[in-house]
Amino acid sequence: MRAHLGWLIAGTMLIGLGCEGPAGVPGNQGTQGPTGPTGPTGPVGPAGPTGPTGPAGPGGSGGDGGLTASCMAPCHGFGGIIQQWKSSTHYAVYVRELGGEEALTWTDPTRGCGNCHAIDGVELRKAGKVGTVGGTVAKVASGQLNYKDSTNKAKESTYGGSSKVASVYCSTCHKIDAANDPHKSGKNYTKGAFALHVPASSNDEAILEKSSAAGTVDGQGAGKFGAGNLCVWCHKSNKDVTNYIGAQNALTSAYWGPHEGPHAETYSAKGGYHFAGKSYGSSTAHLGADGCIGCHMPTVAANSSYVDHSFRANLGVCQKCHAGATSFDVSGGQTAVVKGLSELQAALNTAGYLTRGTAAGSPALGASELGKSFELDKVRFLATPVSVNADTAGALYNYLLVARGGAKGAHNPKYVKQLLWDSILLLTAANPTFIAARP
Ligand code: HEC
Ligand code: HEC
Ligand code: HEC
Ligand code: HEC
Ligand code: HEC
Repeated sequence: MRAHLGWLIAGTMLIGLGCEGPAGVPGNQGTQGPTGPTGPTGPVGPAGPTGPTGPAGPGGSGGDGGLTASCMAPCHGFGGIIQQWKSSTHYAVYVRELGGEEALTWTDPTRGCGNCHAIDGVELRKAGKVGTVGGTVAKVASGQLNYKDSTNKAKESTYGGSSKVASVYCSTCHKIDAANDPHKSGKNYTKGAFALHVPASSNDEAILEKSSAAGTVDGQGAGKFGAGNLCVWCHKSNKDVTNYIGAQNALTSAYWGPHEGPHAETYSAKGGYHFAGKSYGSSTAHLGADGCIGCHMPTVAANSSYVDHSFRANLGVCQKCHAGATSFDVSGGQTAVVKGLSELQAALNTAGYLTRGTAAGSPALGASELGKSFELDKVRFLATPVSVNADTAGALYNYLLVARGGAKGAHNPKYVKQLLWDSILLLTAANPTFIAARP
């Protein structure tokens, strides 16, 4: 459902972005001007399955009295950065939640959500401003969130700000100030002016929470992904699987396991639960120098070669290596992983660990829920919680990790298949059937 939201937004072609508010919140859109003559046919939209392409909408006037030509590139033109961003889920979810109660819980300073959901979460984390009790986050400036409290337990830091806005906005990712902001300086945008908040040189690494040993909260570098480090700051599990899974694990909540968005764990081939005695590898061809950016933010020729801000995976990029690919299901790789997810889902459901409900004793998955929409599955728990051993908990964790962050294997085909293989084998004590052999 989430993926479709972008479409709704992509359909609107109104121009005019209001004056930027002091805290970086999007200003109110101006009232639409009188209908002008039909505009010229727009340039080709950002490449990809969902790129908006089409004629320009009727002319309107912006709330700031209109835009001068220098505002058009690279930001305010049709197919420019603003339009791309407005077609993204980063914007769609913000709009969907406007005025709602739920978004307020995403910026609650007693919880950790704002570290990734608040408009200023990343900037504050980089500056070391997160909430902790009885400990400090060792590598907070590289994106770590967990720390060891006074009882030696891994804890998640809380949001250290006071914004009530849950949005992944321009200023969430970029350092924008009076000197480089064209709205304040009155100067044209110059390439390279909007730096990222996070360390993004070729030697920097963002931290995944998974630590080297139980009782140690050191996290580990996800990999040297340049500008892609930024995505890792938020698109990773907030759980440290090394400390999270113990010898025995009581299932007490539907939210047990990695949070939505553990893409960096699967992509880096580092973040899953690793079974003893197995070795884990990686589809290294997918780990380009700029990581996530390579596939999700390729440059757009029609927009002066600035990067695409729709943030969607781009088929044109795949075709550079997978000649003739017509979908992301390259060589049936996604189909195979979906089969593997189905196999693992069935095994976990038979054992009674999966549900779509959130209350104690919610029913296990029914026939109509099996084999699809894996990312909606939650952990089933009972009034008297069941306790599972480390490997069983690991298989459950791996399932949720791949279902929520694996891109059906496209993020790291080899690693994702290994996690699925080992988890199914553990639960069924028989070789899986979704692929012929463990890769
Ligand atoms: C480590 C960063 C991080 C933290 C901390 C975090 N989230 Fe998220 N959350 C994400 C990312 C990334 C996504 C998007 C995943 C996707 O759509 O693939 C997401 C998605 C969500 C969604 C689904 C949004 C939608 O598209 O409808 C909800 C709801 C949510 N988070 C709530 C919370 C709550 C509540 C908390 C605090 C208890 C929290 N998150 C903490 C990173 C985080
Ligand atoms: C989720 C994070 C994210 C958001 C949100 C975001 N950007 Fe970006 N932006 C990036 C990344 C990553 C790059 C590429 C930086 C690089 O390669 O060094 C980039 C590049 C740019 C550039 C080109 C930088 C240059 O080379 O001069 C501009 C301009 C820009 N963004 C403007 C915006 C505007 C305006 C918005 C809001 C509508 C926005 N961005 C929202 C992540 C983001
Ligand atoms: C500040 C945290 C943050 C950063 C940085 C960030 N994201 Fe996101 N991303 C989110 C959240 C949260 C969501 C869910 C939608 C929302 O609430 O905005 C999301 C949603 C998405 C989605 C849509 C997922 C879906 O299920 O439809 C994509 C794709 C995405 N992000 C890619 C990226 C890429 C690529 C980068 C790096 C350039 C990036 N994001 C950087 C927090 C972040
Ligand atoms: C090799 C190309 C590639 C790289 C690199 C890559 N992705 Fe993806 N990503 C994909 C593909 C393909 C999909 C699945 C799209 C589909 O099946 O609809 C995807 C899906 C996603 C989604 C969910 C979008 C949705 O519609 O459900 C998010 C969020 C995401 N990736 C974030 C990231 C992050 C964060 C990184 C870096 C840690 C990353 N990706 C690196 C190709 C890539
Ligand atoms: C830089 C080259 C490169 C790019 C770009 C690239 N891939 Fe790949 N991909 C490879 C290589 C090489 C392999 C096989 C090696 C491996 O699996 O370790 C592969 C394997 C795969 C597989 C597994 C196929 C199977 O047999 O199971 C899938 C699925 C896949 N890629 C999807 C994508 C998608 C989708 C994109 C674009 C979003 C993409 N790739 C972009 C090089 C690339």
